[in-house]
Amino acid sequence: MRKSDMHIELNSESQQPIYLQIYLRFREAISEGLLKPGDRVPSLRNLAEDLNLARGTIETAYGMLIGEGYFLSQGQAGTVIAPFLEEHLPTIRIVEQSTPYPYPRSRHLSSTPLPLSLGLPALDTFPRKLWAKLGSQVLRSATEADMGYPSQLGLMSLRYALASYLKVSRGISCKPEQIIITDGYRGSLDLICRAFLNPGEKVWMEDPGYPAALKLIQAAGGDVVYVPVDQEGIVVTRGVDNAPEAKMAVVTPSHQSPLGMTLSLERRLALLEWAANNHAWIVEDDYDGEYRYASRPIPALKSLDSQDRVIFCGTMSKVISPSLRLAYIVVPESQVNHVETICRIFQNGCPWVTQATVAEFITQGHFSRHLKKTRSLYKLRRQFLVQALMEVYGEDVSIELQAGGMHLVVRLNKINDDKYLVRHLNEAGFGIRALSDWGSQYFEGQGLIMGFTNIHSTEYAKELILRMKKSTANL
Ligand SMILES: Cc1ncc(COP(=O)(O)O)c(C=O)c1O
Repeated sequence: MRKSDMHIELNSESQQPIYLQIYLRFREAISEGLLKPGDRVPSLRNLAEDLNLARGTIETAYGMLIGEGYFLSQGQAGTVIAPFLEEHLPTIRIVEQSTPYPYPRSRHLSSTPLPLSLGLPALDTFPRKLWAKLGSQVLRSATEADMGYPSQLGLMSLRYALASYLKVSRGISCKPEQIIITDGYRGSLDLICRAFLNPGEKVWMEDPGYPAALKLIQAAGGDVVYVPVDQEGIVVTRGVDNAPEAKMAVVTPSHQSPLGMTLSLERRLALLEWAANNHAWIVEDDYDGEYRYASRPIPALKSLDSQDRVIFCGTMSKVISPSLRLAYIVVPESQVNHVETICRIFQNGCPWVTQATVAEFITQGHFSRHLKKTRSLYKLRRQFLVQALMEVYGEDVSIELQAGGMHLVVRLNKINDDKYLVRHLNEAGFGIRALSDWGSQYFEGQGLIMGFTNIHSTEYAKELILRMKKSTANL
């Protein structure tokens, strides 16, 4: 048995702990053949003395090497390089150790939302203090069971809270059991497709319509049938003409995405009738139905669903914050067992603390106050943006103000390629989107989609729009 007289160099400046450096040096020495199977390794005491380290540090490294099989402890006879390594030596290759990423000083790694970005709520209105208070109350009263796996269907207290809220606010009568919590609209659509759509079946999609939903339906194997929209929303008769046998229709009745009109009552009834007669499902995407400025929010399509054909989709992204990653679906009563089975296969469930905090936010009455506050704030902020656009662009701009929503569709009269314009605006740091990106087969409109919820003053609006005009002056 050969005694090792290996020299170990350690780096006290390194972020790697010393025990780990010792462990790695031994592994490297074995892989490079400096230490051979059967060689004796220094005793704990000797190595600790040589390296001027605590014995425990060496013990930790040796423990790892013994645990992984590189060393063999022989009790009083000392510790050796494991003899069985002989036949494995040619295959032992140490992958170069990368140094760990230094933890950044700033905890704020998310990128700053760009000005005029679509789809964000007012980020300055997130009720931080209240959230901290509710979150700590929720945690302090949590049971051990709450720290286990959350239900794949969603937290029952949140499902109860949402059922009450939907009744009052969206006119929907449903049982808490019909509500399934998801991690966002994509999560909701994914679950709906798994439960209600077979690959190859036809799906009506609004044209123009939300690109993320379109991509998801296509990825799920849906055969998309585009249906045009007009001032009354989706033209149901065109859907019936093109694909009466479709299995599903995905619609945005409160504010058509992105044009913003409301689906008329006549069309609502026609859509429900088609679905009932054809055993089709209607997916109602109510992403920002709460934000209506001229009158009270109008009840959801689901509130008229006497035949149980509508799957209602809500999200917390617009009404509180997208950082929560919480959304929900209301499942037709007859389908609850079926959807539960699908959930149990595919859903992870959402974080317990977040769900419990949102449930408290709703049941303690904060949610309705928050909605009231943001509704009047958005009305004002929309006006800031409209005013700035009119002042800066004058006759060159036209804006069709819709009854609600969180963005404007703006047409610049001299522009005939919105994608080209938006590319320049994005390079100049704006989050504006091109309207034509929402169109597919029928829609050929051009324009700019601008979120107004974070325009906190007239001055800021004016500054942004002047900057926008300047950055596109040479196009
Ligand atoms: C049309 C539409 N539906 C739904 C959503 C909500 O998506 P999520 O719940 O993933 O935030 C959005 C967000 O921008 C949207 O524009």
